[in-house]
Amino acid sequence: MKREKLEKLKQECLECKKCPLGETRINIVFSDGNPETAKAILIGEAPGENEDKTGTPFVGRAGKLLNEFLEKAGISREGDLYIINTVKCRPPKNRVPTDAEKAACEAYLLKQIEIINPEVMIFCGATALKSFYNKKIQISKIRGEILELEIGGKTRKCIPIFHPSYLLRYHSLEEGSPRNLMLKDLTKIKNLIS
Ligand code: SF4
Ligand code: URA
Repeated sequence: MKREKLEKLKQECLECKKCPLGETRINIVFSDGNPETAKAILIGEAPGENEDKTGTPFVGRAGKLLNEFLEKAGISREGDLYIINTVKCRPPKNRVPTDAEKAACEAYLLKQIEIINPEVMIFCGATALKSFYNKKIQISKIRGEILELEIGGKTRKCIPIFHPSYLLRYHSLEEGSPRNLMLKDLTKIKNLIS
């Protein structure tokens, strides 16, 4: 049921040229994960080069690091999550998607949220956070907090977390370090969805 609706939506995306990113993409990066079993939606920023080539979100260096953290926290990427981005097409040179591009793509994202209808949403990084929340807030000030936001016609628990590409720059695991906080936040999410 969910799969059929999502497949139909994906077909629409495959034809989409609503914003300039549609001119330069190789592939639409629609989603990853199991829509029938997913307990949370994770929203990243935008597809990068590897995602554009494969059509799957979070498969490059940042994606591999995300996988490591999910595993450490006991979250199953394929069973527990449905993974999407704020835009479905890769921005040239991996720049941050513009507000106009995000707005053009938003209807697809909201439809996916409505179909999956999760209790929990994970804003992975500042771009996803700013799409749904106050634009001035810093991710480091609000990560790990549970925000109750109305998205797609329902109040959902939304938790901002660091983006894995930020964590690529910090290797320490000591208390209070970015990687330590990421594991804490994901463990909190694991408890919320269990
Ligand atoms: Fe369409 Fe979204 Fe791709 Fe823009 S980014 S062309 S709105 S699918
Ligand atoms: N970074 C993102 O935000 N999303 C991806 O899909 C890949 C890298």
